[in-house]
This record gives sequence, structure tokens and C-alpha cells, in this order.
Amino acid sequence: MGTKLVIDTDPGVDDAFAIALAALSEDVELLGVTTVFGNVGLEATTRNARRILALCGRDDVPVAQGAARPLVHPHAHKARYVHGVDGLSGRSAALPEPGRPVEPGGAVRLLSRLLEDSDEPVTIVPIGPLTNVATLLAARPDLHHKIARIVVMGGALSHGNVSAAAEFNVWSDPEAAHRVLCGGEVPCVLVPMDLTYRCAVSRAWLDELSGSGPVGAALAALTPDYLTHYRKALGWDGIVLHDAVAVAEAITPGILTTETVPMAVETSFGPARGATLVDQRRPELRADTETPEDGAAVRVAVDTDVDALRAFLARRLTSRLTLR
Ligand code: RIB
Ligand code: CA
Repeated sequence: MGTKLVIDTDPGVDDAFAIALAALSEDVELLGVTTVFGNVGLEATTRNARRILALCGRDDVPVAQGAARPLVHPHAHKARYVHGVDGLSGRSAALPEPGRPVEPGGAVRLLSRLLEDSDEPVTIVPIGPLTNVATLLAARPDLHHKIARIVVMGGALSHGNVSAAAEFNVWSDPEAAHRVLCGGEVPCVLVPMDLTYRCAVSRAWLDELSGSGPVGAALAALTPDYLTHYRKALGWDGIVLHDAVAVAEAITPGILTTETVPMAVETSFGPARGATLVDQRRPELRADTETPEDGAAVRVAVDTDVDALRAFLARRLTSRLTLR
């Protein structure tokens, strides 16, 4: 009955599109959503996740709250300059109120229960800092075999966004990112910002989505602050739906082209803290020289048919749901 999925998220405007993509896809069994600090604080990311699911008519999906801060070192700042003060361009309150309380017991307990109860391995899609998923892997090694793969939105092969070297999700908790991506326990796919930027959508794409139905209109209404930021970041009138690109891969394996390469995460406190060092040298050269010591190789998403992906997102997000 479709891909069994759990999304770990810090909504966040692009997270909203990603959650809606999974919630509205009939070939996806969205088992649960867990929330983490990141773009904004944990209370706001949890409130936003629940409202986005309510918007999509998915009060059947349990939501549990996870980490309010990174594993080891404090989080320097939030991304309000990108996503707005409430994480959704100040429009969170315009979304429907959730019809379901937050699950008791927290994110790791919900993730563990969903993995225990599933009759087949589950895909976990972290689209915020990796704190909850790192904690799950450390606390429940007996459940690693119930994880089909972990599809991470994060990292940067060339330059970062929150700093010259680092992408926001990895930078927010580099120790957690190292644990998940370099631990070698579960197959991981990394969807870096280099590829997500190439998948940026235009104002015209957003306008078309806005006219496609009530959910599309509600999602487009969340984008003003995000558009303001990405006009600066892109240099043209569009937005980058980073997290939706990762969910697209999770629900349609192979929609992104991947390469298997060794990688490491910079966890020192130098200017490159949070950088993802992906070794893209030719294997013959790698064999003769130094490579990152730890962890298995990671599948890194390096290419896609960008127009086809944009059309896929628009098609899936067009829902005739009538809002409550
Ligand atoms: O760098 C982009 C990532 O950071 C996305 O997940 C966005 O939502 C922010 O969390
Ligand atoms: Ca996110």
C-alpha cells in the first residue's frame, strides 16, 4: 500500500510543501511526523507541522515533538530571516487548527513504535537538523533493520547557505549529522542544496499552484517571506523547495540520480563547521590517497530532470480537497 514514510521536520516553508507532498500522495503511507528545532523553535515547528497536516485533511497522522536543541553544542540562531517569525511567513495562524493532540512520549518513542509496528522497513526523511534521527539510531540499534533508508535533505558539495561552507540542517547539529550520515548502520541518501537549488521554482509555478485548488492556494500563501529571501539568494523571482525535493526521492526512488561516495562532516569549531566533505575524486585516485576514515559511503543526489521534477511536484500538490 505504497511507501511507508516518516518525516522529521522543522517547518519551515519548504517543509510545508514537503509534508503536503507526502500527505497528498496516494502511493505514500505517511505513518507519522516528528518535529525538531531548526528554522524556528520547537513549539513553532510542532504547531506548524500539525496545521499543515490539518490543511491536507490528515489528522490521522500522529505528530510527536522531538529535540529543542542540538545533541552537544547550543544552536546559534534560527532561520527567521528566511521563513518568517512563525516559520511560515507569519501565516501559520491562517492554517486550519489540528484536530489531533501531540502524541505523548516524544519523537524517539513515536519513531520507535512506528518501526516496531511496521510489517516492512520504513523510509525516514529528515528535512531539518538530524538530532532526533541520531538519537533514534543511538538509542535503538535493534531497530536499524526496520529502516529501509534515510533520505536526508542537507549538506552542500560546493558552497553553503548559512555559511560559506555549511548548509543549515547539517550546520544546526553537525555531530548529529555525522552520526547519521557517517555511522554506516543504515543506507543513507543525501540530497544536498547544490541539487535542490537547481530545482528552484518560479513565481509563475507558484501562481499556477495557487490557482490549482485550496491546498495549493494555502501553500502559496505561506511563501511571501521565503520569496523575499530567495530573490536575494537566487537573483530572480523564485523559491527553492529543498525539502520537497528530498521527499520526491523518498516516494519515487530514482527520481534523483545518485553517486555513492565517501563523505565526512566537519565538527570542529573552525570556519568550516557543518561542512559536508563529499569525496568526488575518481575512485582510482581515492584508492591511493586519504579518504574520510569513518562510516560507509553515502548515496549523494547529483542530478535530476529538473522540469520533470517541477511537474511532479505541481501534479502531486494539486489537490481538490475542500478546506474545513
Ligand atoms: O538548507 C535548507 C534546509 O534548511 C531546509 O530543510 C530548510 O527548511 C531549512 O531547514
Ligand atoms: Ca527543513
